[in-house]
Amino acid sequence: MRAAEVRTPGEPPVAAERDAPAAGDGRVLVDVLAAPITPLDLLCASGRSYFGVPATPYVPGVQGVGRTGDGRTVWFPTAAGMAPGDGSMAATVAVPAEDLVALPDGADGARGADAVVVAAAGLSAVAALMALTWRGELAAGEQVVVLGAGGVVGQAAVQLARAAGARRVVAAARSASARERAVAAGADAVVALDTDDAGVLTERLLAAGDGPSDLVLDPLFGTPAVAATRSLRPGGRLVNLGSAAGEAATFDSATLRSRSLRVLGYTNNELTAAQRSDAVTRVAAAVADGTLAVAHETVPLDDVTAAWSRQAAGDASGRIVLIP
Ligand SMILES: NC(=O)c1ccc[n+]([C@@H]2O[C@H](COP(=O)([O-])OP(=O)(O)OC[C@H]3O[C@@H](n4cnc5c(N)ncnc54)[C@H](OP(=O)(O)O)[C@@H]3O)[C@@H](O)[C@H]2O)c1
Repeated sequence: MRAAEVRTPGEPPVAAERDAPAAGDGRVLVDVLAAPITPLDLLCASGRSYFGVPATPYVPGVQGVGRTGDGRTVWFPTAAGMAPGDGSMAATVAVPAEDLVALPDGADGARGADAVVVAAAGLSAVAALMALTWRGELAAGEQVVVLGAGGVVGQAAVQLARAAGARRVVAAARSASARERAVAAGADAVVALDTDDAGVLTERLLAAGDGPSDLVLDPLFGTPAVAATRSLRPGGRLVNLGSAAGEAATFDSATLRSRSLRVLGYTNNELTAAQRSDAVTRVAAAVADGTLAVAHETVPLDDVTAAWSRQAAGDASGRIVLIP
């Protein structure tokens, strides 16, 4: 079968011919319809993740959408790059039966390209959903700031915050194209993250809101997170789930203690299988009913090397989804 293969950590995978996996040991064969190239795939294959250097060669891809032999269209996770074993960037993958999540009507690919959108949204949308509603305790009527709003997490957060009843969603993003994606996702106001001056960014966030905000969804950390804490109301929350803008952020004590703020961390890895399955189902339902979509492009699996490099360089027009 055709598959992408990481041969050397830190180098893009190449398309190759590999033996097809076998079912058994509780594993079910899934014919892959769509496999996204995500930040986690890039991180794991770099050999610099906290999972360590992966054994090579291996097939990357921590998630995908495919079809089982009995005709179900399913979303599935894999541990590729985090533990020994192969991932989703292949014609066929063997997945533990209990990890499969059947897609609801309308998101099952039978009616068109929705399976691709579910794959593009995937665990990034799960993270946005659970960081907002579970860790962030978003309540109807609240004002939400979404940092990094042009990324997949950010685009999903803008739409999911709105669907959860947020009264106003303020988006913040670095590039002009990212800000365009945030507008397309339905943000009420968009702030440019084009300076390292936290004071300036705080003023912009406050001006874009209708007052101090209740909740910040933060895939960036660094200066944008510092600025965003200063735009929160007393008792406000910031949920961090990534560090695209920096591994460190220097918060001032006066801001945190004077407003009794909560700065929280979030990882999908903490979800139980049931929570993850429920969240994927909700994401897929939102895709099916048209309330969730994220910018993406499709690329044939055989072109994985160039696609991987473009995704890593930030040159893609959205999430790249490989089609075997
Ligand atoms: N904790 C979890 O469970 C979890 C789950 C999913 C994702 N994540 C993390 O969340 C982050 C976002 O994921 P994603 O799927 O949305 O990634 P993505 O689609 O690749 O988007 C990344 C976004 O980050 C922005 N960005 C990168 N560097 C930046 C900087 N220095 N300042 C401001 N913006 C910057 C980019 O903006 P431009 O478009 O302007 O370049 C891009 O829009 C990643 O770090 C990912 O690892 C965490």
